[in-house]
Amino acid sequence: MTNKILVTGGAGYIGSHTCIALHETGYEVVVYDNLSNSSREAINRVSTLIGQTIEFIEGDIRDAEMLRQVFTSREFFGVIHFAGLKAVGESVAKPLLYYNNNVSGTINLLEVMAEYNIKNLVFSSSATVYGDPESLPIDENSPRSCTNPYGQSKLTVEHILEDLAVSDDSWNLVALRYFNPVGAHSSGQIGEDPNDIPNNLMPYISQVAVGKLKKLSIFGDDYPTIDGTGVRDFIHVTDLAQGHVSALNYLEQLTSSRSPSDMAKSVGFLPINLGTGKGTSVLELVNAFTEVTGRDIPHQFTGRRAGDIASCYASADKAKTLLGWQAELSIADMCQDTWRWQSQNPSGYNSH
Ligand code: NAD
Ligand code: UD1
Repeated sequence: MTNKILVTGGAGYIGSHTCIALHETGYEVVVYDNLSNSSREAINRVSTLIGQTIEFIEGDIRDAEMLRQVFTSREFFGVIHFAGLKAVGESVAKPLLYYNNNVSGTINLLEVMAEYNIKNLVFSSSATVYGDPESLPIDENSPRSCTNPYGQSKLTVEHILEDLAVSDDSWNLVALRYFNPVGAHSSGQIGEDPNDIPNNLMPYISQVAVGKLKKLSIFGDDYPTIDGTGVRDFIHVTDLAQGHVSALNYLEQLTSSRSPSDMAKSVGFLPINLGTGKGTSVLELVNAFTEVTGRDIPHQFTGRRAGDIASCYASADKAKTLLGWQAELSIADMCQDTWRWQSQNPSGYNSH
């Protein structure tokens, strides 16, 4: 069986870390990315870190012809599909762009995969599909709902994958629902590199720490949480990357033990949370960052951000039982590694 994996969006934040984890486990990686939110430098650095040139193809998932060329000349075990746009605010301003890129792009990819009989997919979903959760921790059977086009695009893709699995039971479609990915590779060489002023908490904190931004605004101090600030399940990107390897290992074991008459062993549509199972408040994260790095993070409390929920953390049991995966790294590791990346690369991949 081939161990080649097509990684769409592999030049991005989570994709680049996953390429390293895949390589370390013996998978062969081909990255397919249109570089709309990433740079070639990320791929160069991944290549340096693994001591081998990563095969990189600049292309768009909406370009069926280009994808066909990729599938014609290579034999893949499956696809990890990170490619997508992810900014909630931008998705409200540009819904058609988000549906086109994230939904139409994924349909296009699935059609080409079907043409080449590649039926193993690991899809980047999000805890955002749970909306405002009814109960905590959130398990995979919790009701789903979304309030913005970004979240809706993820939920729509999940529905498409469910319908596809019903229509043809040879598909293995794993939707990994990430909670809040933070941190960077322990080398400090790759990390999150937002284009503009960050929307997300950890990159904002680290840019305040490095002096690029003056002050953090903490959105809300009156939530029904431990200290009034929002609570999230922050997960180290290295743990998250390992979760993808575990998902692929699971599919490999399953498909290699399957005889032609035993098709029932396909997983169909399989949603799995990737979180730590622990909630940390915004203020706790800010204090942890200061404690670990010695950098003061000036902050002020402002009103709640529209669309935010009070608390969100995962039940991580399914990933542990099914994939044998659990998060290992601590909040201190997340802060330390974010800071190493940020302080060594104050302007991200444009720093050198
Ligand atoms: P990212 O923006 O760093 O990476 C996404 C990559 O996809 C980028 O390199 C971008 O250039 C590429 N891309 C976008 N549209 C493309 C297209 N049409 N064709 C080819 N390449 C395309 O984002 P990330 O944080 O690494 O997220 C990866 C995936 O995980 C995304 O689908 C995102 O929605 C999802 N996700 C991210 C988070 C998070 O907090 N980072 C949380 C939950 C889910
Ligand atoms: C956000 C998105 C979610 C997406 C996820 C990962 C919204 C409403 N949700 O989740 O769809 O999947 O990012 O990309 O945008 N905070 C501050 N000050 C800041 C930034 C954030 O106090 O400058 C707080 C927020 O109010 C929240 C917590 O920090 O309580 C985490 O925020 P963030 O990192 O943006 O993640 P989410 O809102 O959980």
